[in-house]
Amino acid sequence: VTVFVPRDAAALAVGADKVAAAIEREAAVRKLDITIVRNGSRGMLWLETLVEVRTDHGRVAYGPVKPSDVAGLFDAGFLSGAAHPLCHGPTSEMPYLKNQTRLTFSRCGITDPLSLDDYRHYKGLTGLEKAVEMAPAEIIKQVTDSGLRGRGGAGFPTGIKWKTVADARADQKYIVCNADEGDSGTFADRMIMEGDPFVLIEGMAIAAIAVGATRGYIYTRSEYPHAIAVMREAIEIARKEGILGSAVLGSAYAFDMEVREGAGAYVCGEETSLLNSLEGKRGVVRAKPPLPALEGLFGKPTVVNNVMSLASIPVIMDRGAQFYRDYGVGRSHGTIPIQIAGNVKYGGLYETAFGLTLGEIVEQIGGGTVSGRPIKAVQVGGPLGAYFPRSLFDTVFDYEAFTAAGGLIGHAGIVVFDDTADMLKQARFAMEFCAVESCGKCTPCRIGSTRGVETVDRIAQGIEPEKNKVLLEDLCNTMKFGSLCALGGFTPYPVMSALTHFPGDFQPQPGLAP
Ligand code: NAI
Ligand code: SF4
Repeated sequence: VTVFVPRDAAALAVGADKVAAAIEREAAVRKLDITIVRNGSRGMLWLETLVEVRTDHGRVAYGPVKPSDVAGLFDAGFLSGAAHPLCHGPTSEMPYLKNQTRLTFSRCGITDPLSLDDYRHYKGLTGLEKAVEMAPAEIIKQVTDSGLRGRGGAGFPTGIKWKTVADARADQKYIVCNADEGDSGTFADRMIMEGDPFVLIEGMAIAAIAVGATRGYIYTRSEYPHAIAVMREAIEIARKEGILGSAVLGSAYAFDMEVREGAGAYVCGEETSLLNSLEGKRGVVRAKPPLPALEGLFGKPTVVNNVMSLASIPVIMDRGAQFYRDYGVGRSHGTIPIQIAGNVKYGGLYETAFGLTLGEIVEQIGGGTVSGRPIKAVQVGGPLGAYFPRSLFDTVFDYEAFTAAGGLIGHAGIVVFDDTADMLKQARFAMEFCAVESCGKCTPCRIGSTRGVETVDRIAQGIEPEKNKVLLEDLCNTMKFGSLCALGGFTPYPVMSALTHFPGDFQPQPGLAP
């Protein structure tokens, strides 16, 4: 009997290793023959550790399983998929999973992340196999036609970025994968690196063939030790199996890659400071132009793409541009892995076509708050994203609709707050975060963020509150239009959305009088 126990960091954090050990022990005591596969996460984080058993009728899910539940599961006969209070029936029939459109995450949680046989069995490598037979320009056309836009947050068309790099003349080009997933409430990059590392390797290899690059780097955070370990092991396997190296899948293309760890600076998720960091320099933002596509890593033409963008390439190459493009709304094509977090009942990863409303995502899929209190605000797009009040819950999840509503979808992280949240404190936190994480290169961000903290404090202390609100807005405008990168430039989103939508919280706070 095969039993699946996730090795994903979210599952490990709640004791998955102990659950796996308990299952192994219990099976030995009962003299039962089992095989434990350490899979990735299915993304239903409130059910971790989610244990699955392979039965004649497909996989059956049990969760959240604690080590103390294991003996009872054996007693109930879970190895044959028997009923138990923790049983959720067939995994693929669970509504949270069944209602998703999993294109990028199609294998995550299903396969053994480091089994290339598993990867091939679930249609892995078919995209790369097609790519090595195609002209690079055809690959780029397919990616452009698919409508894929940068999933890191900015939504720039991936195919156009690749074309800029492909058209640049140089003796060396690079593929850099931005896996410096720093946004609050986001974990999609980590989850796929831990749960399906070969899809990222395949996506990067396709990008390399398309633009003429021979070296690739995954730049990720030191806070992701499990993802780093899995990626490194997967790269080693891919090299041995001829997916990476001097002849990619036996073709005339050469491509190899490695993982590099950051040192804990949020701003290194910004592409140019990431490149500086990768070169061994301080992670300070570079002015654009020149674009990294023309002068990137070590001054050479470089594709810098987010993990999600690159991991979406194999399915596009395999199923074709039109297949991918047909999902979504307006100019937002394909699927987006939404990460639902914060004070929410069903937190997890939910991949779906663009087009759901924010209210559907947090109330129907997320199930409202875990505290049971009403939702007050939802921050979308990380610490630099806007706070949405309930009155904006009809905003459609696509790039343009969020921009029109004064926000951004960013890396599609959603953090839910109940009515006990104090939005003045959240605005102050945004300014403080910017002050701490600022690279210091430009004045609006370096100085403005500190002045911002002081101005919010003065409002809280009741010192000329109306005058200081005007000053705060003025400061936000200066940061928005005068900052060199998104850190200083987008900090005004959480601040101004808090001030605009929750004016009641911007009153003098008792106990804070000067
Ligand atoms: P940007 O708008 O400057 O550029 C977007 C991308 O398109 C860049 O890679 C840029 O080099 C490229 N580009 C622009 N014109 C091009 C051309 N003609 N040819 C080829 N490439 C071209 O945006 P930026 O500053 O890189 O990113 C800002 C976004 O990052 C924000 O929307 C924010 O949501 C997101 N973000 C994501 C985080 C994460 O953890 N994933 C963290 C912080 C911010
Ligand atoms: Fe650096 Fe902030 Fe300026 Fe970005 S906005 S370049 S983080 S100082």
